[in-house]
Amino acid sequence: MKFLASTVKNIKIAAAVIRKGGLVIFPTETVYGLGANALNPLAVGKIFEVKKRPYFDPLIVHIHNISYLENICQNIPASAKKLAQKFWPGPLTLVLPKKDIVPDITTAGLKTVAVRMPSHPVALRLIKEACVPIAAPSANLFGYLSPTSIQDIKEEIYNAVDIILDGGKCEVGIESTVVKVEKDIVILRPGAVEIEEIEKIVGKVKVVNKKSKQIESPGQLSSHYSPTTPLKVIKNKNCILPSGKKIGLLAFKKVEKKGIFDVVEILSPTGDIYEAAANFFSSLHRLDKAKLDIIYAEEVPKVGLGHAIMDRLRKAERK
Ligand code: TXA
Ligand code: MG
Repeated sequence: MKFLASTVKNIKIAAAVIRKGGLVIFPTETVYGLGANALNPLAVGKIFEVKKRPYFDPLIVHIHNISYLENICQNIPASAKKLAQKFWPGPLTLVLPKKDIVPDITTAGLKTVAVRMPSHPVALRLIKEACVPIAAPSANLFGYLSPTSIQDIKEEIYNAVDIILDGGKCEVGIESTVVKVEKDIVILRPGAVEIEEIEKIVGKVKVVNKKSKQIESPGQLSSHYSPTTPLKVIKNKNCILPSGKKIGLLAFKKVEKKGIFDVVEILSPTGDIYEAAANFFSSLHRLDKAKLDIIYAEEVPKVGLGHAIMDRLRKAERK
């Protein structure tokens, strides 16, 4: 059986698989990762193959303590160290100049590498036991919704890996914030650490302009995180909607009546943005399985993690 409970014994078995060049799906606090030894080009190559991910899209390298950063990065700016001290372990990814030990395939030929120290105890233990850093994108097919529980991992993905460690539901539910730190500090992907929190530590940061032609982080591709069912973002659920179609609603908070909607998913009955983020991908997975013609997604308030949720909804819309 490939699906294993995250006991210490099973984590050690999974770590041995990573060391031998295999693939392991493991839980993090954000989403499930599809991991391989980040320093082994052949193992990393398998990740791209399984995910059908274009080779120009670099991976995040996961480490289990801050001091390991020095092994894979160089010329680390003081501001990056401050951010790591403040937010690690946790959902912040730092893009920094890489050392030669990191293979080109892991960084898609870039001279920088994206690094993160996750806070999930299973992820940390796995990396520690493997004794190598673990490259891991989200465990979904390229462009599709990220999985936040093992039930949402697609067959073509789990069939192609050696082990899946079950860690239950991911607590945060939205991917890490990706920050490039050089002379300027630039947010390449909004995510689970709020931009305002980052600015408290390092001052004003730039946020990559959505309209800019230059793609600095391939995750900025305008279409991403998409369900198979067409999705449209609406300001509120009382707007005029087509009839004669099977329609789903992704609602932010409690809805009194289902109305014209065939299926309704509520992100947070009380309207809590953190709960909404934690339920976001699993709700979309359920709607996507419901054989609907279209999913309408209500805008969420742009406070806290609301920015990161709206970023993903806009990308899901532009399929
Ligand atoms: O929460 C997360 O970050 C999850 C968990 C598994 O850690 N991982 C994740 O990985 O979301 P992935 O591959 O789905 O997204 C990584 C993002 C992509 O948008 C990629 O383009 C960007 O990070 N990235 C990676 N290396 C980069 C680099 N050197 N320069 C700029 N962007 C980079
Ligand atoms: Mg992803």
